[in-house]
Amino acid sequence: MSLHSHIEQVLFPEDQIAERVSQLASEITNDFKDESQPPVLVGVATGACLFLADLIRRIDLLVSVDFVRADSYGSGTISNGAPRISLDLKLDVKAKHVIVVEDIVDTGSTLSCLIAHMESKGASSVSVCTLLDKPARRKVETKLVGQGKFYRGFECRDHFVVGYGMDFAEMYRNLPYIGILKPEIYN
Ligand code: IMP
Repeated sequence: MSLHSHIEQVLFPEDQIAERVSQLASEITNDFKDESQPPVLVGVATGACLFLADLIRRIDLLVSVDFVRADSYGSGTISNGAPRISLDLKLDVKAKHVIVVEDIVDTGSTLSCLIAHMESKGASSVSVCTLLDKPARRKVETKLVGQGKFYRGFECRDHFVVGYGMDFAEMYRNLPYIGILKPEIYN
């Protein structure tokens, strides 16, 4: 069975993702062009890897890049509780503008944990750039820091999605589009 045959439906095809990523990068470029300090883009591993890679190549500014990892998901589709930071920043973000780059915001608990973490490290502002947002599932509201902004690629209905960095059981991240798996794959 080929990888693509596991997909029930493509929700966001490659060209639509590429176009939206370019728009987000232009917004970020425009919003930060007059800042004296280059913003720090912090990708949330592993899901944001493809999005971050494409986004930073479209930003026409000096930026620095780092990663964090926050684990709360098990190997299934249901969160297993409060997130924990299992890989911390290498860069010092004190007095810097941080942009947390996420694949998807679901309940919001991972994001609020990461924002609080960046604030505790002295970031002067914390923005969020997420490719997908599932507002219907939100349990924890996102409180940005300083002049931080919320950049969102697409609103997503309450589906469990895979591809373009997002996984099910650590697989399907390498799909170039975002889609839904066939129901039999989950069983
Ligand atoms: P939250 O803490 O509930 O907002 O979950 C955020 C994290 O859960 C994301 O960064 C993803 O890694 C993962 N996640 C949430 N929904 C999905 C999904 O539909 N597909 C794949 N991963 C997801």
